Amino acid sequence: MINQSILKGLKENFTSHFGAQPARIFQAPGRVNLIGEHTDYNDGFVLPCAIDYQTLIAVTPRKDKVVRAVAADYENQTDEFEISDSIQSHPDQLWSNYVRGVVKHLVLKGLKFQGADMVITGNVPQGAGLSSSASLEVAVGETFRLLYDLPISKEDVALNGQEAENQFVGCNCGIMDQMVSACGEASNALLLDCRTLHTKLIKMPDDLSVMIINSNVKRGLVDSEYNTRREQCEQAAAILGVPALRDISLESLENSKGMLPEVVYRRAHHVVSENERTLKAAVALENADYAQLSDLMAKSHASMRDDFEITVKPIDYIVETLSQIIGNNGGIRMTGGGFGGCVVALLPHDMVENAVTKLNDSYTAQTGYQADVYICKASPGAGEIN
Ligand code: GLA
Repeated sequence: MINQSILKGLKENFTSHFGAQPARIFQAPGRVNLIGEHTDYNDGFVLPCAIDYQTLIAVTPRKDKVVRAVAADYENQTDEFEISDSIQSHPDQLWSNYVRGVVKHLVLKGLKFQGADMVITGNVPQGAGLSSSASLEVAVGETFRLLYDLPISKEDVALNGQEAENQFVGCNCGIMDQMVSACGEASNALLLDCRTLHTKLIKMPDDLSVMIINSNVKRGLVDSEYNTRREQCEQAAAILGVPALRDISLESLENSKGMLPEVVYRRAHHVVSENERTLKAAVALENADYAQLSDLMAKSHASMRDDFEITVKPIDYIVETLSQIIGNNGGIRMTGGGFGGCVVALLPHDMVENAVTKLNDSYTAQTGYQADVYICKASPGAGEIN
């Protein structure tokens, strides 16, 4: 569902900047990952869903090659550049680089299109691990795809966004966030094979709420630690002689344990076991087997905490505290890249209030942070808003 007051503000903002109503409006959602963390760049499996928080773009096509963009949420900062294959980074506006990078990489694919006037806004919490960046990349890609009838698929929009983030912005992320932002479906999670990009829709049960708790621990160190984890996984795969950690079973990892440095073994153990858990969790969700789901999400969290070492104390506190309430009726774990950010819980609707109260009672006193809670709906991927 699109927030109507944001939509109204977006249209007014466009009219005041560009002197006429926007021709069209496009959106791309953020995401929450239910399970399958740091598996995507190991060619493994993930199980995210798109959420009802989006990046929105109001746009009118231009007859020349100029892109003019306004970032409503950054005090209406503006950017202007010419479409070409040699677009350079903006010196000091990070948001501009997502727009520039996506446009440049579309051009590098040989696609031909004209310019656009656009205003960008959104309500995906930033820096919280809910993929505000991917939603911006996908929103910009989808805008040009639909505005100019580009002969590419939504999957290509996702891959193009990832390419822009890897090569233009400089973060070595996997494909999960962009894929689910582009290809998500209402009421469903997406089981994604990150090697083949094959997707399977997994219906979200009607009796569980998707609750996201933002720890509000700012995700410091995230890029450098993220890239280190990725290197350790690649090192493990190289030593084990496989193309990616996707290609190894838990059993053969155990048999080869002695070949790996201790830390590298633990990183690999997280990824290999997480792949197994993700496939099992998809089945558990489909079958509404909440006891199994609860167990898998708890093990996923422990593995991120102990083997992959990407959780922080306030996040562990939220998971421990709320798992006492949720028990076997749903599941809870940290979600996203780690080092702060969010926790995701799947829980019966009538437990939500109790969980929020419990959190309000103790989280700040225990950690010094204030938590935000979002109750989300699995939502459609990128597209036009009519
Ligand atoms: C970030 C990255 C994703 C993925 C997750 C961890 O969100 O952008 O590609 O690696 O971290 O699962």
